Parts: sequence; C-alpha cells; structure tokens
Amino acid sequence: NDAILTDDFGRKHNYLRISLIEKCNLRCTYCMPADGILLSPKKDIMTADEIYAIAKTFVNNGVDKIRLTGGEPLLRKDFLEIIAQLALLKTEISITTNGILIDKHIEVLKQNNVKKINLSLDTLVASKFQTITLRNQFEKVIDNLHLLLNNDFKIKINVVLIKGFNDNEIIDFIKLTELLPLSIRFIEFMPFAGNEWDKSKMVSQKEILDQVQNHFPESDLEKLEDDKNFTAREFKIKNYLGSFGIISSITNPFCDGCNRIRLTANGKIKNCLFSNSETDLLTAFRNGESIENLIGFSIRNKKKLRAGMNTFDDINNPVLNLNNRSMIAIGG
Ligand code: GTP
Ligand code: 5AD
Ligand code: SF4
Repeated sequence: NDAILTDDFGRKHNYLRISLIEKCNLRCTYCMPADGILLSPKKDIMTADEIYAIAKTFVNNGVDKIRLTGGEPLLRKDFLEIIAQLALLKTEISITTNGILIDKHIEVLKQNNVKKINLSLDTLVASKFQTITLRNQFEKVIDNLHLLLNNDFKIKINVVLIKGFNDNEIIDFIKLTELLPLSIRFIEFMPFAGNEWDKSKMVSQKEILDQVQNHFPESDLEKLEDDKNFTAREFKIKNYLGSFGIISSITNPFCDGCNRIRLTANGKIKNCLFSNSETDLLTAFRNGESIENLIGFSIRNKKKLRAGMNTFDDINNPVLNLNNRSMIAIGG
C-alpha cells in the first residue's frame, strides 16, 4: 500500500531520511550558522522507540529505504538501540556521517546490515579541513574512511564545493577514484538559514564538468546510467575503480524523480529539502492519534520543483530561501 506516499505528480516516496539529532561535532560553515542554532528542547526530540514506531508506519505504507542523518547521527547516545530496532523493519538502512565516530560504531553497523555509508569530506588538505569544519579531525576522518573501505562498505564521499575554497581539488578528488572503489559526489552549495550562501560562492555543474573535460581526454570520460531516483548524475574515468557524480540542486534539479521524505529529529515531516512548511507527526503520535493522515496531507502538499522555488531568482531571494531551517537541523 503506497497510496498515501504517492503525490499529485505520481512520485512514490519510498525513501525516508530520518534526522536523529540536531547536534554535530564539527562546525561546517555551510551547514551550521556561526552562532549555532536554537536547539529543540530534549523532550521534543524523538526517542528510540518513537523513531521505530514512526518509521514502521512509513514502512507499512511503502518505504523500503531509510537513511539516518543529523546533525551527526553517530552522536546519539542510543544509536545502538535505534539501529537495532530499525533493522527489524528489513529495509535498506544507510547513514550520512562526518566519519569521526565510525571506528567506535563499525561493529554495530556491520551487525545491523548497514552496508552503504555517505561520508562528508570537503577537502583533502588538513589545514583546509580545519578552516571549513573549525575542528582538527582530518586524520581521524581519513583513517576511518580507510577502515570502512577495508571492511567492504560501499562509500560515497560528499563534497560541497565552495568557490575559491575547494574547487581546485575537483581533479584530486576524482584521482582518488583511480585506485579506490568510491563515488565522489560534488554538490552545488545550497542556501539555508544562516549559511551565508551567495551565488558567487557556488560552483555549478557546468563549471565542474568544464574542469573535468579540460583535464581528462574526452574519450576517458564516461557517463554512467543514473538510478531512477538519483540525486547525483554519475560519471567515471575509464579504467578507474570508482566513479564521481554531480548533485546540481540549483542549476539542474532532479525533482521529477524525487522519492525522498524527511523526518526531523523533533518529529516533523518535511516534504522537500527546501520546504519550510513542516508537518508535526510527533505531537500527534504522542497524543495517540493516527499519523497516516498527516503523512498523506504532507505528501499531497508537495510542490513539483524545489518547494515551489521554480527559478534561480527564487533561490537567490533571501525572503524565500532563508525561511528554511539550517541544514544541520534537516540532515541534508
Ligand atoms: P544516496 O542514497 O546514496 O543516493 O544518497 P543521497 O544523495 O540521497 O543522500 P546524502 O545524504 O548523501 O546527500 C548528498 C547530498 O544530496 C546532500 O547535499 C543533500 O542535501 C543532497 N540531497 C539529498 N537528497 C536530496 C533531495 O531530495 N533534494 C535535493 N535537492 N538535494 C538532496
Ligand atoms: N549545500 C549543499 N550540501 C550541503 N550539505 C550540508 N550543507 C549543505 C549545503 N548548504 C551536505 C553535507 C552532507 C549532506 C547530508 O548535506 O555535505 O554530506
Ligand atoms: Fe525532492 Fe525537493 Fe530535493 Fe526536489 S528539491 S529533489 S522535490 S526534496
């Protein structure tokens, strides 16, 4: 039964992204405002049991892929309890993490059938890691990346590109895929409350591909087939083990195939990454009400493209784009 998860444009939302926590052990400037965010009171954050029960309702209605995000999801003290319960639902479970706490969780991840991990890493230079994250954890993340590879996890690396900061590392990142079975995903910088987005800081899909084409011979660049619900358009360099992709939410959106629905750590549904109208599931759940109607309501209100931000001018309009929560509280 997937009726309540199908929207007016025929998109089936079978991919649930659950944010577990609003806190993080890094301070990436594009994600978390410099003066932090107003954290939800602890009592408003979903407990492990609530996460399980709400996720189960989604699964009963057709969700078959769950991704755990944050903040940093591995900071949840009860991560083990959460993942062990979600594993009972028999969906694919993956996580998006900054990688710092991977070594402490690797056994739990393996035991609970997590096979795919998306790791945020914006630079291959230690001093620049410090500049963007405001923390000195580069070596730890690199060690944990290798730990994951040695344990046969399927890894994607998320690189948010910021002009003048890391756009000179695009080729270095792609070269990592020569010998490592990774997918590197270059992400267009997106605007969220407090992240000082400006179009001049964004590196577009076209600029990324121009750099690739200037560096590699044309005959070496292969376009791979994309999944039907892709976020990244995927490419690879001939004979390289890994691949790379471009997530172009701003200049070349992929909303037609959107299958994603988001649950924030405080139990609200967001029907689009860019939507600031949230539907409160947790309060209804705690009151013993059925949450299926609310889920259906949220899905039916989903807009065709980027929560109604149809043009670049809309995205560039602070009145529209800064209405949204900060990325740290959405989980990407
Ligand atoms: P896979 O399941 O491996 O395809 O990962 P994913 O791309 O769904 O998730 P991930 O958490 O790794 O996100 C990578 C980037 O894609 C982040 O910058 C996200 O904000 C962005 N992203 C993920 N889902 C969406 C989406 O529905 N819309 C838009 N515009 N961007 C998204
Ligand atoms: N624009 C684009 N991607 C972002 N992420 C965080 N903030 C932004 C932003 N402003 C990415 C992180 C993380 C993913 C879940 O979202 O790189 O890997
Ligand atoms: Fe889906 Fe919204 Fe992302 Fe488009 S912008 S892909 S509708 S979440």
